[in-house]
Order: sequence, then structure tokens, then C-alpha cells
Amino acid sequence: MHSRISRTAGASSYCKMLLIAIVVFLLTAAFRFHRSQGARRAAVANLPGPYCPPVIGAVHRMIKLNPKSFIRESRKQVEKHGNLQRVWILNRLLITSSDTEFNEQLLFSQEHLVKHQLYQLLGQWLGNGLLLSHGRVWHQRRKIITPTFHFSILEQFVEVFDQQSSICIQRLQQRADGQTCFDVYPFICLAALDIIAETAMGTKVNAQLAESTPYANAVNECTALMAWRFMSIYLQNELLFTLTHPHLKWRQTQLIRTMHEFTIGVIERRRQALEQAQQLGGGSECENAVGSKRRMALLDVLLQASVNGRPLKNEEIREEVDTFMFEGHDTTTSAISFCLWCISRHANVQAKLLAEILQVLGTDRNRAINMRDLGELKYMECVMKESLRQFPPVPLVGRTLQADFKYSHSKVGDGVIPAGSEVIMGIIGMHNDPAYFPEPLRFKPERHESGERAATFAFVPFSAGPRNCIGQKFAQLEMKMLLAKIVREFELLPLGEPVQPVVNIVLRSDNGFQLGMRRRNDASDSKQ
Ligand code: HEM
Repeated sequence: MHSRISRTAGASSYCKMLLIAIVVFLLTAAFRFHRSQGARRAAVANLPGPYCPPVIGAVHRMIKLNPKSFIRESRKQVEKHGNLQRVWILNRLLITSSDTEFNEQLLFSQEHLVKHQLYQLLGQWLGNGLLLSHGRVWHQRRKIITPTFHFSILEQFVEVFDQQSSICIQRLQQRADGQTCFDVYPFICLAALDIIAETAMGTKVNAQLAESTPYANAVNECTALMAWRFMSIYLQNELLFTLTHPHLKWRQTQLIRTMHEFTIGVIERRRQALEQAQQLGGGSECENAVGSKRRMALLDVLLQASVNGRPLKNEEIREEVDTFMFEGHDTTTSAISFCLWCISRHANVQAKLLAEILQVLGTDRNRAINMRDLGELKYMECVMKESLRQFPPVPLVGRTLQADFKYSHSKVGDGVIPAGSEVIMGIIGMHNDPAYFPEPLRFKPERHESGERAATFAFVPFSAGPRNCIGQKFAQLEMKMLLAKIVREFELLPLGEPVQPVVNIVLRSDNGFQLGMRRRNDASDSKQ
């Protein structure tokens, strides 16, 4: 008995010693680690930010953060610490900036072009496409893809925008009884999907019609799945997602396979058609089976492109087409849905807009709308800009710095953000800065009329600098077409709840985009 007690006491003091040793080891490691960060800490000592306890940093804040609370929490932090802040999370140094002066320097830099890891969850789908790639691959691809969005090619796409918008109008007709409140988002989403598929791949996917293809369904479902994963910090990690949701991981793989197989199939067929046309002496023109000239698709330009004399491989083209499919429908859907909602809530703006639309496009709803018509919709441009200001579809852009970034600033002075830091630039914060946009919460399209140039750089819905949006003109034309046709056809009514913006890869509304519609009476409306 006695020896058992002394053995137990010996074991317990051994455990205590071991515990103390572990604690001492961990504290020493933590202290050393903290000291090793000294130079990085000193470099950003001029920047304000929340209290970050040694070693762990502001982990507690990050855990609380989610896409729903993001905008509210960010506003609180900006009120406390200003537009430019530093935050430590374990060994990660995060710079969050909605500071126009700072962001302008970083966005226009030719050196800091590597995207933040936040977007990596799209990697399996988009691969090395333009959105995610960097370094030599990005440079080469950007050079090839820039001419893809040439004026002459966009001009041909306006016809697609027009036709697909007409289908959207027909579908909206079912809800336009003047009383029903509904979410306009799903209608716009399918129209945007049809538009990008036909322009990027030259192939109709009939997402708006009942017989929608497995491909269109897969794009839609996969986008929704990615957006859902984006909502949670741990689901963004591929390994943790796989371990905790194996059935969804399996579904994701299946959806991505469906999309990749479809895109590769289209690319192979277009390549064969192009080669046949060239053999027949048709040069770069694409002709269809009956020999008439066919509209170029973005894909055709990629098929004809080469890097240092080598044509792009099918797999490389696939990455770019998939990137267009993703970037080209989710962002425009967000932009158009927010804009429709804004118009529905501002009767005076809607009246002015309708007057312009009727003056430029007339009342003949069967007349095709062309690029010149769209160019004349000047007030519409201001309305779109104001909606993009308040609700930028891409609310944040991020970079991971591979080298030190030197900046100069009128308030915090000159400084260096050390290599390895992550920078999150808040477009949404810049757009709501009262220093550039007085009364930022007011929807005021007139602030974009020529003359008010002070805010030019503070307004960057398509980002700026070398990695700005390559599809900007495409998106603006598509937005104009859909908005003009919808406003000409329907009166937008302020029914339902206000939008609740959430940062969910793109900006969405947590409760949808509620509004009502009433079909316009030609005679009475044309008198306005
Ligand atoms: C209203 C609609 C759109 C908005 C607000 C928008 C906004 C943006 C923004 C802010 C970026 C920079 C992202 C970053 O740095 O992380 C970007 C990049 C990009 N966008 Fe858009 N976009 C729109 C529509 C489109 C369309 C229609 C396409 C293609 C058809 C497109 C293709 C791209 C591509 C390929 C990039 C990557 C460019 C690069 O890194 O070189 N976007 N877009």
C-alpha cells in the first residue's frame, strides 16, 4: 500500500515536471518567434490597428468574422483606426486598406501582382486562368487575351446581349403583375450565363429555357457551392473541406469534371472548324455548316493566338474560357441585380432613365439595339456607376507581397510593407469614403456627371492598374442592354425588403433582391 502511494506520488511529480518543461519550451519558442518578427513589427509600427496580443495576434477577431458581419465589422474598425490598418494573425501580417492614396500606389505597381490566397478555392475549377495566375504565365496570357475584348469583337456580341435580354424579358413577364414581390436575381443570373456562354464559347447553353444543359446547371451549382464555402474560413481550406464534407467534395469534383469536359469538347470542335476553314483558304474567318460567316467567340481569338510562336494548348485555353465563364456571369449578375433594386427604390431616377431610354431606343420593342444606341445612354451610365459605387460586385481585392512594398502617404508618412505580408484592399470602403463621395449612403447618379472628377481614382469597381478587369467594356455593354430593355418594358416597384449586402466571393444580398414589376403601357409611358 505504502509503496503504491509513493509510486503514484512519483508519477504525479514526473507529470508536473513534464508539464512545466512543455510550458517552458512553448513560452521560449513563442518568445523567440515574437522576437523574430521584430523587424516586420517595426516596419509597420507607424500604422494603426486593433490590439494584437503577442504570438496569437487578433485570432479572436478573425474567428468572429464572417461574410455577413464583414461589412459591419469593417466599418467599425475603420471608424476606430482609420482607412489603413495593420493586423497580426499568428505570424501573418495583414494590411487592410480602404485608403485611396495607398491603394492607388499598390494597384498601379508593376511588381506586386500576386493574388491573395483567398481566391485559391477557385483553383481546381479555373486553374492557371488569368484571374488566379501570376508571373510569366499571367504576363503572356494577359498579352494574348487583351485583344480578345477589342471593340470590333464586342460589337458583334451586342446582338447576343440583345437576343438573350429579350428572353429574360419574356421570363420576367410571368412575375410582372404589379403586386408580386420577387427576387430578381435568379432571372438575371441565367440571362448572364446564357450571354457569357454564347460569347465566350460560341455555344448556346439555353440556361434560361426549360431545356437547360447539364453544363449550365453545373456552372450554377458550382458557383453556389464555392460561394457557400467562402462563407467559412475553415471550408475555404481544401483539406478541411474534404475531411468535414466528403460528399460535397465528391459533388464538387463531379461538377468541375462536367464543366471541364464540356469546355474541352467545345474547344476541340472549334479548333477543328477553324483548321478546316483555314485549309479551305478562309483565313481566320469561322464559317458554319452552311457556309455563312459566323460570329467570333472569345475562344476563337484564343485558338488563333500563340506564345512565342507556339499556339495555346487546349488545356490552357480551357482555363481561360472557364475563367470567363466564372468571372463573366457572377459579377455582372450582382451588378445588374443591385442596379435594378436601386432603380426600383428611386422613382425620380427611374423616370429620368425611362425618358432617356425612350428617346434613344424609341418604343419599337422589336428593333434590334446596337452598340451606338448603347453609347448614347449617358444618364444610364451614371445610374450604373452609382450602383457600382454603393454595391461593387467585387468588394475586395487582395495581394500577397513577394517583395517589400514602399509607399508614401500624406498622413502616415512614407513606409514599407515587408515581403510576405497580405494586403486586402476594400473597394467597397473606398467607394463609401465621405472624403471622396459626400453623403455616401445617398443614391445620387448625378455625382458621376462630367465635372465631378475629384473622385476618379476612388471609384474602382473594375479595379485598376495592370490587373484590372479585362472584361470591363463587355460588362458595361451587357449591363446597359439588360437594364435598358427591362426598364423600357417594366415599371420597377419598391416591393419587399431592402437588400442586405454580404461579401460572398462577389457581393450578394443575403435576402435576395426583392422588387415588383408592372408591364408598361406604351402610350402613357412614351408621353413622359
Ligand atoms: C460588373 C461586372 C464586373 C466587375 C465589377 C468586375 C470586376 C473585376 C475586378 C475588381 C477585378 C480584379 C480582381 C482582383 O484583382 O482580384 C477583375 C478581374 C478580372 N475580370 Fe472582371 N469584373 C466584371 C466582369 C467581368 C467580365 C464580364 C469578364 C469576362 C468576360 C471579366 C473577366 C475578368 C478577368 C479575366 C479578370 C482577371 C484579370 C487579371 O488578373 O489580369 N470580368 N474583375
